[in-house]
Amino acid sequence: MKIKTIGVLTTGGDASGMNAAIRAVVRTAIFRGLKVYGIKRGFRGLIDGDLEEMKPTSVSGIINQGGTILKTIRCPEFREKNNQKKAAENIKCYGIDALVIIGGNGSLAGGAALYYKWKIPVVNIPASIDNDLAFTDYTVGFDTAVNTALEAIDKIRDTATSHDRVFVVEVMGRDNGLIALEVALGSGAEAVLIPEIKPDLNKVCEQLDKGHIRGKHSSIIIVAEGVMSGYEAAKQIRKRTKNLEVRVSVLGYMQRGGSPTAFSRAIAARMGQSAVELLLKGKYGKMVGVIGKKVVATEIKKVLKTKKTIDLADYKLVGVLSS
Ligand code: F6P
Repeated sequence: MKIKTIGVLTTGGDASGMNAAIRAVVRTAIFRGLKVYGIKRGFRGLIDGDLEEMKPTSVSGIINQGGTILKTIRCPEFREKNNQKKAAENIKCYGIDALVIIGGNGSLAGGAALYYKWKIPVVNIPASIDNDLAFTDYTVGFDTAVNTALEAIDKIRDTATSHDRVFVVEVMGRDNGLIALEVALGSGAEAVLIPEIKPDLNKVCEQLDKGHIRGKHSSIIIVAEGVMSGYEAAKQIRKRTKNLEVRVSVLGYMQRGGSPTAFSRAIAARMGQSAVELLLKGKYGKMVGVIGKKVVATEIKKVLKTKKTIDLADYKLVGVLSS
């Protein structure tokens, strides 16, 4: 099939760099002579037929902006067959030959449904602050989220040191500790609690007491939200330590916003271009990803079946470097 018209959408939790990815898709597609539709609010826009044609100027001045100009929602109703059918009908009705879907886990599941059940050519671009998709070293937005968290923690470190305090910093990561681990390494945290490893607060507290005795002026404990809340961790640390002043900071949604880092923008550009080229080559049902600097493509089905794992060496390194 010759692809003449494509649609692009963003779905799930927003991630900084989604706009850079939309720009890369739109500009590459137009450069290659295609017509492009921007679909609003992810799969909801496909169901409702909420879309508009995009021109090169539609994506002017957005490369440095967080969020997504196409808007996004979580759309659990897209699991229902009748909604998928409506989407497939709208895709046909607008003459859309193929889709580029930008987002995390949910976007991949939606892409799989459209490709495997409804035979619509799709390519997914991984974009999520969580970095929890296999077959790519990084998702668009992860690097920005980590750097945003680090900027905040550097400031927290200043006040922690002035007051000789322990700070528990809660970062995002409902199901995995990939953000927490990277942030712990980058901030020089004393310990990190992640969902993949059963938390041992006794050990953390022993370490904090020892650090206090040998004159440490501040300690940062990073907690991924999926383990327990930062407040709960602080409560438990207060109970088990002597003479330590413990404070909490929940970084929350600030990790999702802000101008994307150079790295998030660059991978968005490479993956956006590659997604369009794959569609033109007739290579459908793939997720693009980056392994090192190389852009690779993996079958959506395979990505969905594989869980990204943390690097245990990184977890151990946090302990070694804080001792
Ligand atoms: O998927 C990214 C993420 O930021 C998670 O780390 C977080 O738990 C979740 O989204 C929050 O999503 P929502 O804003 O839909 O509640």
